[in-house]
Amino acid sequence: MLKTRLTELLGIEYPIIGGTMMDLARAEYTAAVSNGGGLGVLASAIFRDTAAFRDEIKKTRDLTDKPFGVNINLFPMMMPPDNRAYLDVLAEEGVKVVETSGFAAPEDLVGLFKERNMIWMHKCVGVRYAKKAAALGADAVTVVGYENGGATGKLNITTLVLVPSVVKAVSCPVIGGGGVVDGRSLYAVLALGAEGVIVGSRFMLSEECPIHPNLKKALCDASELDTDIIMQSIGFAHRVWLNEPAKKTIEMEARGCGIEEIYPYVSGEAARRMYNDGDINAGTVSCSQGIGLIDRVMPIKDIIQEMVAEAEETHRRMSSFIS
Ligand SMILES: Cc1cc2nc3c(=O)[nH]c(=O)nc-3n(C[C@H](O)[C@H](O)[C@H](O)COP(=O)(O)O)c2cc1C
Repeated sequence: MLKTRLTELLGIEYPIIGGTMMDLARAEYTAAVSNGGGLGVLASAIFRDTAAFRDEIKKTRDLTDKPFGVNINLFPMMMPPDNRAYLDVLAEEGVKVVETSGFAAPEDLVGLFKERNMIWMHKCVGVRYAKKAAALGADAVTVVGYENGGATGKLNITTLVLVPSVVKAVSCPVIGGGGVVDGRSLYAVLALGAEGVIVGSRFMLSEECPIHPNLKKALCDASELDTDIIMQSIGFAHRVWLNEPAKKTIEMEARGCGIEEIYPYVSGEAARRMYNDGDINAGTVSCSQGIGLIDRVMPIKDIIQEMVAEAEETHRRMSSFIS
C-alpha cells in the first residue's frame, strides 16, 4: 500500500508516473503504465496535428479506463506544435491531467489550466524552477536529478540532493526522479520526502515501449558508465546512451561545432531510425545512469509490481535496522 497525496490527487494506485518520451509515449505505452496502477503520460509533441493527437487520446482511452495524463512540450522544437490548440483538444476530450516540461513554467497557460479545472504538474530540474511552478499554482512539481535520461538543464543537481531541497521549498506534492529503476530507488525517493516518482528509462526497456529489440538489448547490456551529457554547448543538455553518434557529438562540441553540424547525429529522424529499424548507431537516445541496473525487458505491469514489492521489502529491511 503506497498512499500519498499524489495517489489521492490523481486517483491512481501507486505513486508512479510514467516518464513521457518523445516518439515513444503513445497510446500503448501510456495505457500500459496506467493499467499497471501508475499514471501514463502521453507525449503530445509526437503528433503533427490536432486530428492525430485527438485520435491517440481516443486510442489511449480505448486501452485503459484508468486516469492518464498528457505532456505539453515547452522545449524548443524544429516544428513546435500549437500547444493552445492541443489544450483545447484535452478539454474537449475530458483529459484532466496535464504535465508541462521545458526550460520555464508556462505562465501564459496557467490561467487556462485553472479555468478548466485541470490537474497541472510541471517537470523541471532545479529548486528555483520548482518554486516558480508552485508559486504559479502547480498541483504537483516533478524534479529529475542529473542522473536522469533526457534533459538535464544546467544546474546538474543529483536526485539525492534535489528532491529533499524541493520538498523543503514547496508545499505541493513533489514527484522525484532521475535514476528510479527499481523498488529500492522508489523507496529512497519517497524517503527523501517525495510523494511520487517518475520513471523513464526503466519503462523504456519494457515490452510495450515501441523501440526495436536490438536497441533494447544494447541498453540492457549497458552499464552505469555508458551514458554521458550531449548538447550542453548549445544549451540543450541531455543525458544519452554513449553510442558512436553520442561520442561523435561530444567530440564535435569540444571542437566548437554548432547545431547545424551536430544536428544529423541528434535529430528526431535519426532517433526514429534507431527505434524503428534497430540501427543502434543511427542517432542518439536519452538514457539514465540507472540503465546499469536494468538487464531485462518486462511488461510494464510486472515492472511496477516488482518495484512495489521491492519497496515493501526495503521497508521491512529498513525497519529491522531501527529499534
Ligand atoms: C527515450 C526518452 C525520451 C524522453 N523524452 C522526453 C520528452 O519528450 N519530454 C520530457 O519532458 N521528458 C522526456 N524524457 C524524460 C522522462 O520523461 C523522465 O523525466 C526521465 O526519463 C526520468 O529519469 P530516468 O530516465 O532516470 O527514469 C525522455 C526520457 C527518455 C529515456
